[in-house]
Amino acid sequence: MKDTPQIYLAPMQGFTDFVYRNALHRHFNSIDKYFTPYLVLENDGSVRNSKLKEIFPENNDQVVIPQILPANEEELVRLTDLIAGYGYHEININMACPYPMVTRRGRGAGLLPSPEKIEMLLKTAFSKFDLQFSVKLRAGLESFQEIEAIIPILNQYPLTEIILHPRIASQLYKGAADKALFRSVRDKISLPLIYNGDIFTLNDFEICSQELEGQSGWMIGRGILSDPFLPQKIKYGQEYDNATKLKVLKAFHDDLFGNYSLSAANDRQLIIKMTQHWEYLSHSFIDPHKTYKKIKKATRLDRYQNVITEIFNQQE
Ligand SMILES: Cc1cc2nc3c(=O)[nH]c(=O)nc-3n(C[C@H](O)[C@H](O)[C@H](O)COP(=O)(O)O)c2cc1C
Repeated sequence: MKDTPQIYLAPMQGFTDFVYRNALHRHFNSIDKYFTPYLVLENDGSVRNSKLKEIFPENNDQVVIPQILPANEEELVRLTDLIAGYGYHEININMACPYPMVTRRGRGAGLLPSPEKIEMLLKTAFSKFDLQFSVKLRAGLESFQEIEAIIPILNQYPLTEIILHPRIASQLYKGAADKALFRSVRDKISLPLIYNGDIFTLNDFEICSQELEGQSGWMIGRGILSDPFLPQKIKYGQEYDNATKLKVLKAFHDDLFGNYSLSAANDRQLIIKMTQHWEYLSHSFIDPHKTYKKIKKATRLDRYQNVITEIFNQQE
């Protein structure tokens, strides 16, 4: 008998905040690990309060792994000290973020061309802290060769796991995630390797698990934002009829809406936040394009609520 796949929620800045993670946990409850979007030091050495809220224990109903985006050992120490102060035992280090604003400062995938910097980060992490660390990375900044020099370094440290998105940063999301590259890294790495990239449907998952035979750990981002039922379909083959699906989605939506409304400065901000989610969530509906278009047009709260009623009734 096959083991049940382990499914992690990918960190996504602006989307998988604590309101989202808690709602996902309450209404779907089929994710094994949740990661926070990255915490980063500002120029003055502080962490924005809006980001800090992500790790307040009272804001997290689920097991959550905070993620950090350090450029060097000093930043790693400051961020880790801060997070450990809230009682966390495991931290994920981001070596994946592909955006030039981040990589130019030597953060995220900007670390990948410098194995010596990665070595210093991990050496510092394990020598200074009695904590668990994991790493999330892309295959390189500019070239797929970069990961070759990184594998022997990762192998030297007792990392909990490595999460690999097998693209290089300069691709952003273009081209396909490279399964062959993932397999070749998996053969060389002596730590648990989690696959991440482009799983949007059960069919994608099935194709991917055939290509990566024996793979048990998966991290999914955009696929879960688009279809929050995806992890339970993958793990338990659980499919609902349309009416039940809509009922669960409506409760999930109302949970997001209610909790975002507690922190939104005004109606406009609340609508912007919800509309962001609908860019993905609309894919759970029969006509995603039309659904999202309706939401985008609803720039006032009363209109938004009318559109929601219409969308959920129309699908029955
Ligand atoms: C809007 C957005 C924000 C993201 N924020 C983060 C982040 O904070 N930390 C991180 O490691 N990856 C971040 N990612 C990358 C995702 O975690 C993930 O690696 C990527 O989307 C590929 O997985 P997917 O195809 O399942 O979405 C972000 C991606 C997007 C699209």
